[in-house]
Amino acid sequence: MKGIILSGGSGTRLYPLTKVTSKQLLPVYDKPMINYPLQTLLSGGITDILIIVAPDHAGDYLKYLGSGKDFGAKFTYEIQDKPEGLAQAFLIAESFMDKEPVALILGDNIYEDDFSEIIKNFKSGAQIFVKEVPDPERFGVVRFDEQMKALEIVEKPQEFVSKYAQTGLYLYDHTVLDKAKSLKPSSRGELEITDLNNLYLKEGNLKVGLVKGEWVDAGTIDALYKANEMIYKKKQKK
Ligand code: TTP
Repeated sequence: MKGIILSGGSGTRLYPLTKVTSKQLLPVYDKPMINYPLQTLLSGGITDILIIVAPDHAGDYLKYLGSGKDFGAKFTYEIQDKPEGLAQAFLIAESFMDKEPVALILGDNIYEDDFSEIIKNFKSGAQIFVKEVPDPERFGVVRFDEQMKALEIVEKPQEFVSKYAQTGLYLYDHTVLDKAKSLKPSSRGELEITDLNNLYLKEGNLKVGLVKGEWVDAGTIDALYKANEMIYKKKQKK
């Protein structure tokens, strides 16, 4: 399986921290943020990794991560000219993916869980990972049955659908590229990952995994603070 870290975006909610630096290179306790999603992929045995970055910060990522040799991996870089949605990652990654299954992780999502067995055992269809949240209206939320089969995914629902939010790790088989190509931009002008996942859902090929440990989407100041605290506490326990 190959890996993609989506590390573009504009990081406006962290302004002015992101005026000069990319959000995913900001410190989370003792390491740049991107180290954590990178570790999630590496621990699943994924070493062929594409890093998608915004044009302003490409040089910084290359300087920090380099060829990947220091991490026991091989890194490839692509630029996303404009943040036109998470599902655009697959269009950018077309030549990199080469008809293989792929794990996509967002560069600002930090997980405590170890997904290595799930990643290593992934075969076909798609798998998403959900976590119970107090404010589901802010997320793509997922309703699923007792067999953890997805029944419905709704982006930022106005009315209650489920308290489980889709988090920033996604596993896809090679059909993801054709599915991504068929998407149309949403009303906010983005190729939506929820629309992509709904295509797998319609085929009956979307599995749901539960995130058991802590998960932080470090896109706001409070969440960034929480991420620092989470890693600090983990280090104290060791
Ligand atoms: P967001 O946090 O939704 O967007 P952002 O990073 O631009 O931040 P803000 O809303 O504060 O301006 O993005 C989630 C993650 O996905 C983050 O790691 C950036 C990445 N991303 C891209 O790389 N490309 C995109 O087109 C989008 C929408 C997000």
